[in-house]
Amino acid sequence: MSETAHSTPASMHPIAEPLTLFLVGITGDLARKKVLKAIYQLFSQHLLPEDFKLVGIARRPFSPEEFKQYLHDTIQPDSDAGWSAFCDKTYYIAGDVTQRETFEKIAAFHDQLKTCGNHLWYLATLPSLYETVAEHLGALGLHHSPCGWSKLLIEKPFGMNLDTAQKLNQILRSLFAEEDLFRADHFLAKETAQNILAFRFANGIFEHLWNNQYVDSIQVNSIQDIGIEGRGQFYDATGTIRDVVQNHVLQMLALTLMDEPSGLSSTSVRQQRREVLAHLRVAQSSAGQPAVVRGQYEAGEVEGQAAHGYLEEEEVAEGSQTETAVAMKFELDTPRWRGVPIYVRAGKRLARNVTEISIRFKENPNRMFGEQTISKNANVLTFRIGPNEGVVVRLFVKRPGLKLELEEVPMQFCYKNQFQMELVEAYVKLIHDAVQGDLTLFPQGDEVEHSWQVLAQVLQSPPPVEKYAAGTWGPAGFDQLLEADGRAWIEPSIDVCQI
Ligand SMILES: NC(=O)c1ccc[n+]([C@@H]2O[C@H](COP(=O)([O-])OP(=O)(O)OC[C@H]3O[C@@H](n4cnc5c(N)ncnc54)[C@H](OP(=O)(O)O)[C@@H]3O)[C@@H](O)[C@H]2O)c1
Repeated sequence: MSETAHSTPASMHPIAEPLTLFLVGITGDLARKKVLKAIYQLFSQHLLPEDFKLVGIARRPFSPEEFKQYLHDTIQPDSDAGWSAFCDKTYYIAGDVTQRETFEKIAAFHDQLKTCGNHLWYLATLPSLYETVAEHLGALGLHHSPCGWSKLLIEKPFGMNLDTAQKLNQILRSLFAEEDLFRADHFLAKETAQNILAFRFANGIFEHLWNNQYVDSIQVNSIQDIGIEGRGQFYDATGTIRDVVQNHVLQMLALTLMDEPSGLSSTSVRQQRREVLAHLRVAQSSAGQPAVVRGQYEAGEVEGQAAHGYLEEEEVAEGSQTETAVAMKFELDTPRWRGVPIYVRAGKRLARNVTEISIRFKENPNRMFGEQTISKNANVLTFRIGPNEGVVVRLFVKRPGLKLELEEVPMQFCYKNQFQMELVEAYVKLIHDAVQGDLTLFPQGDEVEHSWQVLAQVLQSPPPVEKYAAGTWGPAGFDQLLEADGRAWIEPSIDVCQI
């Protein structure tokens, strides 16, 4: 992507004070895929202060030259213009973050380079290291900057269940004020997720219908056709519910279901998201069990290629019962949404690669067109989070001709069509907002705890996994979950907005 291709988004501003960004886990997968490119993009667009330093921390030994080469290989800048200016601002400290001496080296670095000013600590390392890093920061007083602010940006997962999330929150809050804690859930920073708020609250049309009087049901599909991509150890200890439902999916639902905030302040937006999560429940099946179906992929075929089963993946435990996909039914216990089922389907090695939220509106009770308007997809409004981002309403129209015959058509807004500019990459937005101190797109500690609470019973006693062939729509139980309610999954129409 060329540097000129990114115009500086009007809403983004540089900050004047000196800034040191400490990136713990600079050699990791996330840093390589997203974080370093995002930092460089902000730097190239002059959205970071002139007096900026990036300090990478990991165990891998690097000479200064090797480190610069690593950065170059990772970021792959389009041109060398500006590259050496960026490199001059980068430093590396090799060390094990479980050891106090690593933080002593960091403290000595402060003294040597006089990094007076604002400090952003970015934890993009193993979640099992979060507590120890925080404790070391506290023990050496590195959570304070004597001449500026000090904030912590921390990657999900925030704990592995309610207890561990509460413990992590407690440790973090003992060191940082809640307004200095930036818990990253990059889905919230996607343009299309932010657009849910704009679409709902800037237009009166749909908001009047956004309740149990007019909405039949809601569906979220957060599905991938890829497998676990060599991350067997991580995935086997995590599973789909912890990996995407507890965070991305519940946050998208919170944006979709929340009441209108009193204003644009982060406090009012976060408060309304929190209210949704505080009242969300996993529904019960007719047998009195949580309405949850867990799936695990077996060998199958994805895009014409043979794909092996989950149990054959490297570093997956023999006979593992970890789910690689899940279908769940939720309900929101508020006057606005009581009685509206919310279905979620998420996971890996499913038939498509798409994330979208669909609102199905109730049928017109009169039905002058009778059977002609029975359809799985009409009367549905879909927020396409990705790929081919947009908003689609599927409606019936009259097909041209002598007869009054109906045809289901999409009415769509597609980002690619409408705006001749790149979407702001989620990590660019997250790092920018953390530096600026805008908390809107970061879940607060209570939100995180509520979302673990919603899933606590399912995580404590999960149903057994049902097998499904890789590349399909999941086990039979996924369809049965909706069939029990007389409904069916809305098949994502991936061709929409494929411009
Ligand atoms: N990867 C993604 O796509 C993705 C997406 C969203 C969120 N996340 C989250 O981001 C975080 C990082 O994920 P990741 O996939 O990047 O993990 P990863 O590839 O395993 O990277 C871990 C990083 O931490 C460093 N590290 C590990 N142990 C260390 C120690 N004892 N002392 C110092 N450094 C240590 C590693 O470097 P050395 O081995 O050189 O020490 C490496 O830089 C996780 O919380 C993950 O859930 C990841």
